[in-house]
This record gives sequence, C-alpha cells and structure tokens, in this order.
Amino acid sequence: MRLCPSILSADFARLGEEIAVVQRAGADFLHVDVMDAQFVPNLTFGSIIVDACRKLTSLPLDVHLMVVEPMRFLEGFARSGADHLTVHLEAVGGADGARAAARAIRDRGLRAGIAIKPGTPIERILPVIPEIDIALVMTVEPGAGGQAFLPESPERIARVRAAIDEGEHDCLLEVDGGIGPATIARAASAGADTFVAGNSVFRSSEPGGAAAALKALREALKPVKAPGGAGGTQARRA
Ligand code: DX5
Ligand code: ZN
Repeated sequence: MRLCPSILSADFARLGEEIAVVQRAGADFLHVDVMDAQFVPNLTFGSIIVDACRKLTSLPLDVHLMVVEPMRFLEGFARSGADHLTVHLEAVGGADGARAAARAIRDRGLRAGIAIKPGTPIERILPVIPEIDIALVMTVEPGAGGQAFLPESPERIARVRAAIDEGEHDCLLEVDGGIGPATIARAASAGADTFVAGNSVFRSSEPGGAAAALKALREALKPVKAPGGAGGTQARRA
C-alpha cells in the first residue's frame, strides 16, 4: 500500500518544509498535479515545479498531467526529474494513443501511467493495462483538490483490479481524489494499492499536521487485506 501526498494542497511558500515532513512521515511517492486550463478548468504549473521538487526530495515524483496534447510535454517533464508520468486516456484519444504515450514514457526510462476520468466508461482502460505501469482511476472529477470521493468509484476500481489480477500484470492501481481516513479503506477494499491524498494530508486539522494525517491513513488501511491476495500481484512483487 503506497501513500502519495499531493502537493496541490501544500503551502507553496513553505514547499520544502511541507515535502520534508511527508518524506519523514513515510510517504512513498510525491504527487504533482499539472493542469493547463484546457483539459481541466484550472491552471497550476509546469516542469519548473518538478525541477524544484527534484531538488527537495528523493521521493519518486508521480506527475499527473491534466493537459491536452500531453505528448508535447513528456520530454520536458522527464528531464525535470519526474519518475512517473501519467497522462489521461481522454487526452490521447483512447487506447491506441494511450499505448503510444506509454511507450514514449517508458522509452525515457520512466513508469508510464494512464488516468481515467469518472465519466469515461471504465472498460476503456482495460485493454491498455498490459502495457502500462500505473492505472490511475480518478475518484473525483479532475481539476481541484478538496472534493468528495465519488460513490461509484469502488465498482470502477474493482473492475481494474480484476483485469490486473487476471492477467497478472505488474501495474499499480492508483486512486486520486477525496481520499482521507473515511474513504481510503473503501478504495483499498475495492483493490486500489496506491493512494493520492491532498487535502487530507496537507490541510489536516490533526494536531500533528501532515505527519499525523499520513499515520491516520495508514491506520485506516490496516484492516484491509492487500489487493491481489496471497499469490496475487502484490504478494509476488513484495
Ligand atoms: C485533482 C488532482 C488531485 C488532488 C487531490 O484533480 O488530480 O491529485 O490533489 O486532492 P484531494 O486529495 O484533496 O481530493
Ligand atoms: Zn492528481
């Protein structure tokens, strides 16, 4: 089970400290949300923030590209030190585009992810699973932090889990949006193994701040069996 704080909810005036706290608290990856005001309504930042994060942490940088024409930006993000690059299925025109994007990302030595929005039929991501390293099931409409986990998400996660296990694929199943102590177990029970969390980590009201928030997420995961079960993909990878 991997926890992946999203810096979208961090205090950018104290980005170094914020990242140091989650790294010390055992975060597995650091999630970086790139938005272009076209694929989603909001605008965030480009590769200079990935550059900055690279200098601030040794955590793998999990870069989520919510942009149209993501192929144009792969090289720049790879050079900036991204470890994972995830593009949207909807931004590359479906399965063939997703395969091409995944190849281009892997050719640069990075893990390749494909994300799917809540409104896109989940079947559309299934054919590309054998060729990707991360399947990112959005559990909110992409574009902003602090939204509520969509109730239809567990069923969608379970479909992706079944496809990964059936083909014994070495593919992470990441979820993003509305993940907090009250929802993480639902996503994990459905089969997610990698959890992005923005508001619940960086804007936590826990007295111990982001570190305590990460601990609370781990606690909430404890009763949940690792996806794949004994002999499943997770067990083999371990
Ligand atoms: C939303 C982004 C998320 C965002 C999640 O479009 O992709 O990564 O940071 O924020 P929370 O965890 O607050 O829903
Ligand atoms: Zn994201």
